[in-house]
Amino acid sequence: MAKFLLPSNSQIKQGKYFSALGASTDVRRYSIYRYDPDSGENPRIDNYDVDMDDCGPMVLDVLIKIKNEIDPTLTFRRSCREGICGSCSMNIDGGNVLACTVPVESIKGDIKVYPLPHMPVVKDLVPDLTNFYAQYASIKPWLQSRMPAPTNHERLQSKEDRELINEPAACILCACCSTACPSYWWNSDRFLGPAVLLAAYRWLVDSRDDATNERLDNLEDSFRTYRCHTIMNCTQTCPKGLNPAQAIGEIKKMLVGRAAT
Ligand code: SF4
Ligand code: SF4
Ligand code: FES
Repeated sequence: MAKFLLPSNSQIKQGKYFSALGASTDVRRYSIYRYDPDSGENPRIDNYDVDMDDCGPMVLDVLIKIKNEIDPTLTFRRSCREGICGSCSMNIDGGNVLACTVPVESIKGDIKVYPLPHMPVVKDLVPDLTNFYAQYASIKPWLQSRMPAPTNHERLQSKEDRELINEPAACILCACCSTACPSYWWNSDRFLGPAVLLAAYRWLVDSRDDATNERLDNLEDSFRTYRCHTIMNCTQTCPKGLNPAQAIGEIKKMLVGRAAT
């Protein structure tokens, strides 16, 4: 898993400490980024000791236990607990991951939990994804067809055509890849980033879609697409095993191929 440079604990002041009084011998320490913009205070790291004999196995289970039993002010997103909704993406032990799919046992030593890197923070572990979603909307992530929809069945595809969209359509928009991409860190106002470009690719290769040229026009830009420098952090990070870097390479080939004709 790709790991990223985050502010070290020495750069962010230490906050509260919650001990696990009377707990079993299986106690793990969680150092968690805390920030409340309404308080006017700087971010801090709160430390929680958690009795793992009385807790589920995943890091998300620990966060839920802390919120329910130790500190109700801790704020994070989650929904499915199955690695499907993409809500619980955050930076754990230096990597962008889904908290519900990371076993505590897979991490050695104290467990550091931060929000996704290089994003504005709404509160604690919740990043502000407003720009990310606006960029997603900008690639028009829906079918555009000049053919009227059939009245008695769906728009059909061959098995081979469907296989082309299988992988890109499996993206859960967790933003782990985009927030792992150095180009996106520095140019997120203009570079679409790997998650959104993967989504764009999903519609470019959909045999039922007729807007290929318009979609490529929208991507033909030195920043929106070409700020990708094939660093590959995105593909190494994706918790669903997808390959946005390859999809971006295919988009670039389509743009070059179109220009040559
Ligand atoms: S391959 Fe492109 S999109 Fe992926 S991390 Fe590298 S620069 Fe970012
Ligand atoms: S490509 Fe992977 S890491 Fe990126 S948003 Fe989709 S599921 Fe998340
Ligand atoms: S809670 Fe849905 S992916 Fe983790």
